[in-house]
Amino acid sequence: MEGYRLNRLFSREQVASTIKRLAEQISRDYRDRELVLVCILKGAFMFLSDLVRELQIPVKIDFVRLASYGSGMKSSASIEITKDIELPIEGKDVLIIEDIVDSGRTLQFLKDRLSLANPRSVKICALLDKKARREVEIEVDYLGKEVEDVFVVGYGIDFNEAYRYLPDIHYVTPIDHKR
Ligand code: IMP
Ligand code: MG
Repeated sequence: MEGYRLNRLFSREQVASTIKRLAEQISRDYRDRELVLVCILKGAFMFLSDLVRELQIPVKIDFVRLASYGSGMKSSASIEITKDIELPIEGKDVLIIEDIVDSGRTLQFLKDRLSLANPRSVKICALLDKKARREVEIEVDYLGKEVEDVFVVGYGIDFNEAYRYLPDIHYVTPIDHKR
């Protein structure tokens, strides 16, 4: 991506210790439950894979892929499921695994949608949260780190499909050519 600079926000070590803390909380809260993790593709794939390796309880894993209209830096209000879960979740405890929360519309949509299948509970685990940008009332039950209103990439999170592979988390700023 030309014209943009990446500025490191969280190192891979900071991400790892954040995930350890989340995994301890989740392992404690869901002991002796039947937990199904529902990972939102693609952004949360790296977070999910590191999180499950820190958990001390058995879990099942499923994936959804959501499409929101428009690409680039803005998330949109119109959302649909392009790949649904395949496991039955009726009577199960469900924990949605998301990379980053912005307006909250994606999570509100998915939480409502999964609730139709009568799970025992549906909660949310998100690595990052831009709380200041929330447009709907949605609670993150397990939060990694709050971030300012910046555009972040890396650790699974993309900018038009670039930068997902990076192990650290960065924020993007335009390069000022006048200087
Ligand atoms: P929301 O529906 O407005 O909460 O947007 C959440 C979705 O927008 C996330 O799943 C991300 O895919 C995307 N998103 C929000 N903020 C960022 C960001 O800073 N970088 C990359 N993707 C983002
Ligand atoms: Mg996403």
